[in-house]
Amino acid sequence: YTELEPALCQELQKIVGALVVPGKGLLACDESPSSLQKRFDDLGVENTETNRRDYRQMLFSADKSQFSKYISGVILHHETVYQKTTDDVELIELLRERDVVSGIKVDKGLVPLFGSKDENTTEGLDNLQERCIQYKRDGCHFTKWRCTFAISETTPSQLAMVTNANVLARYASVCQSARMVPIIEPEILSNGIHGINRASEVHEEVLSILFRTLQEHRVYLEGMILKVAMVLSGIKNSVNCNPQIVAENTITALQRTVPPAVPAIVFLSGGQSDEDAVINLNAINVYEGRKPWPLTFCYARALQNTAMETWSGNSEKVQDAQAVFLERARLCSQASLGELDP
Ligand code: 13P
Repeated sequence: YTELEPALCQELQKIVGALVVPGKGLLACDESPSSLQKRFDDLGVENTETNRRDYRQMLFSADKSQFSKYISGVILHHETVYQKTTDDVELIELLRERDVVSGIKVDKGLVPLFGSKDENTTEGLDNLQERCIQYKRDGCHFTKWRCTFAISETTPSQLAMVTNANVLARYASVCQSARMVPIIEPEILSNGIHGINRASEVHEEVLSILFRTLQEHRVYLEGMILKVAMVLSGIKNSVNCNPQIVAENTITALQRTVPPAVPAIVFLSGGQSDEDAVINLNAINVYEGRKPWPLTFCYARALQNTAMETWSGNSEKVQDAQAVFLERARLCSQASLGELDP
């Protein structure tokens, strides 16, 4: 086993330093054309390449100083990396002007895990290094890969946890070799009837297997970011836990499993309302307990829902939609500091 080159470690740490800044978080904007289908359908927007470009141009051209005050990085989909604005400026350039680091989702989506009962793994390891080298040349400095775990009486299975930990570790080590910081996302889904205790248990089990595997693959922990769900009761459970309980369960599961060497933990917003995603993040940051990592947001839905709805494909609504987006970002920023106005 050979140590990573010091120059590579320094470069990864420098990217982490640009992403992890107090009061800032990440905007996940990496929905594939097929996952935008339903959201655009609901708003009566045709799901064309131009409309997807117009939508993202609306977000990225929001007020420069506010955008860069709240957002340090944006996760893009392949298509967006190569799109230009109506004025012929690369979308990545708009982000660069805002001091925002561009990242790229490199997984190719979920596939059934044969031999399991309704569980998934994630494809995309073939040619990953080549793709990463190209994206790096084209201006991206970090990557994202998502594996999911469903909670039921029989899941997640040992097979799913071990397979996905290996997939995530292999992804992370390939990205680091291409000088990209991997965001490692083992998403524990909130679908289901389970209570919060079961969600805690599953987080601890999944994350402990994951970090053991990252060690085995020699992933450089100081040069990665972990992205997780908050520990919540299942969506179909009648108990909606209060923010203090969510914070306590989330921090405890992370304390028990995530090494302090990891430079940041970011949360996804799936399964929560826009308001809960802010209030729970604030509670996590206010919670008194050992927290050796910055804890911030990397939201797609909770940052975009209302802005997308306001925009609805109407060019006259661009400014209103931008205002709504920046307001969500401002609240998330306050929450990441534990300074949400009551
Ligand atoms: P949500 O915040 O909508 O859960 O999405 C975050 C994400 O990037 C999931 O991979």
